[in-house]
Amino acid sequence: MVKVRKAVIPAAGLGTRFLPATKSIPKEMLPIVDVPTLQLVVEEALASGIEEIILVTGRGKSAIEDHFDISYELEHTLRERGKKEMLASIERISQMVRVISVRQKEPLGLGHAVLVARQAANDEPVAVMLGDDLYDCDRCARPAIGQLIDAYEKRGGAGVIALLEVPAGQEHLYGVVAGDSAGPGMMRVTDMVEKPAPGTAPSRMSIMGRYVLPSEIWPILAQTKPGKNGEIQLTDALKTLATKHGCYGLAVEGVRHDAGDRLGYLRANLAYALKRDDLKPGLIAIMKQLLEEHSA
Ligand code: G1P
Repeated sequence: MVKVRKAVIPAAGLGTRFLPATKSIPKEMLPIVDVPTLQLVVEEALASGIEEIILVTGRGKSAIEDHFDISYELEHTLRERGKKEMLASIERISQMVRVISVRQKEPLGLGHAVLVARQAANDEPVAVMLGDDLYDCDRCARPAIGQLIDAYEKRGGAGVIALLEVPAGQEHLYGVVAGDSAGPGMMRVTDMVEKPAPGTAPSRMSIMGRYVLPSEIWPILAQTKPGKNGEIQLTDALKTLATKHGCYGLAVEGVRHDAGDRLGYLRANLAYALKRDDLKPGLIAIMKQLLEEHSA
């Protein structure tokens, strides 16, 4: 079984839900408190043993590449001003990990975005991490993608995807799976459908932004035809993977935030700020005051 060393992070979307903020700022750079969402995802990958990140970017995403690069002017200024802690946190970002970026020239779907990373991944197995889904796993033994990597190894190198049971009526927003129980929190996937029409979902178990895919996924992705919305869907490729080679779903431990949705994004900001001793008391006071003002 080949070890998972690389993570693909698709970051080529237009971020229309966050316009006008995302007119010139990639949505992946929108901060959760003071850390870009993308950095949180990269940190999760690193803490899970990933050695290389392949970012799939599109037009107007150079801010992302700059973020993970050395910033001479900024570092020089912080050094001159004696801002040691800030300097260390800035230097840490560029030293974090090897980040490669590849371009998705046309928005042909999530499956296509992952396929664009094939050459950089050198046909190896990969972790795929979607920046809209944030997992707070502070209270778990392993970060979310680490839990999937463990399951991949335990299952002898089979594909594993993160699943979450969504409330009834929300299935049409996700890739939804059907399958049989394969142990605690684990499912052997037998069917998958991308964003089923209301009332047609095979279950409420939905795919939630983290995948560990064996090398067999590459030729499958290359042959996957456009599906839902005329896009090449990762879910369709996973269905073929499940049929030909098997695929498992894992109910990931941790708190998931939907940072791709405006309310989910606000909730993530509050939840992450409440974890910080320097912000928690002040934030609680503000929230109490705002609740009083708005519940009148
Ligand atoms: C994508 C996937 C979908 C998955 C969702 C959440 O959809 O296509 O299968 O359930 O992410 O991870 P998107 O939200 O990008 O439209």
